[in-house]
Amino acid sequence: MEQEDIRAGKNPGRDLEIDSEALKCRLATPTQIATEPGIRTDLIRIEKLAKVYRSGDSDLVIFHELDLSIAAGDQVAIIGPSGSGKSTLLHLIAGLDSPTSGTIYYRNKNITNLPEAELSAFRNREIGYVWQQHHLLPEFTAEENVMMPLLIRGVAPAKARSEALVVLEEVELSARGHHRAGELSGGEQQRIAIARALVAGPSLLLADEPTGNLDGRTGEMIFRLLADLRRRRRLTTILVTHNLQFARECNRVLKLEGGALYPELGQE
Ligand SMILES: Nc1ncnc2c1ncn2[C@@H]1O[C@H](COP(=O)(O)OP(=O)(O)OP(=O)(O)O)[C@@H](O)[C@H]1O
Ligand SMILES: [Mg+2]
Repeated sequence: MEQEDIRAGKNPGRDLEIDSEALKCRLATPTQIATEPGIRTDLIRIEKLAKVYRSGDSDLVIFHELDLSIAAGDQVAIIGPSGSGKSTLLHLIAGLDSPTSGTIYYRNKNITNLPEAELSAFRNREIGYVWQQHHLLPEFTAEENVMMPLLIRGVAPAKARSEALVVLEEVELSARGHHRAGELSGGEQQRIAIARALVAGPSLLLADEPTGNLDGRTGEMIFRLLADLRRRRRLTTILVTHNLQFARECNRVLKLEGGALYPELGQE
């Protein structure tokens, strides 16, 4: 697979290690995450979630019987000591990892037992992620990186490009769209990663220490940008952070410690 093929939108999934069967399924049968009528309106509901890593004879229990409900529009910060399982929880919510037991519902649909193809389609449509590392493709331009989720979804390259330009404008980097991602500064790369997370119009933004690799001033700028975008786009957000000041700007702050989630700062 040549870079030119990817730029032209030909099988963009392969180089991104996207399961081609998943991609085919996605293109053939658009997923509808149906809402079962008459029950709860939470965007996410987690019931008795457990994650246990087995190593040799011993079990490492990260959490068990974890319950959490997040309503559409909630801004949730998750804080807690290193190793308490914050990233693990985000990975499970994103469907990037499977729980040992328990259930995660997204709009009342159980996503813990979806076939991989449906899960990939769900992630592409519903979830935007921003990680501590930007995970951009350094040899590709900023614009091409932002186009990628749309190309994976099967959007025509010209349309993907025009939508990418709109989001690049939102992160105030439209002037740098033709620069290779690897040539941009850390803060600029994170802004591109934010644009890539938002270009496909997700309902849920997951951010795992998005300012963790940046100096204080750049981190503050990225946090402000994220806060502004999630307000403007009415995104439900789960932000994992060690920065209490950032956490306190969310409407819910939860602490993950000893395998349980506790409301912090008297917010709940
Ligand atoms: N694949 C794995 N196999 C075994 N143990 C794992 C695996 N992935 C994570 N862990 C362990 O699970 C625990 C929780 O990890 P996790 O990365 O979720 O913590 P965290 O709260 O995000 O920490 P930090 O604040 O440092 O990012 C850690 O003790 C980690 O070593
Ligand atoms: Mg982590």
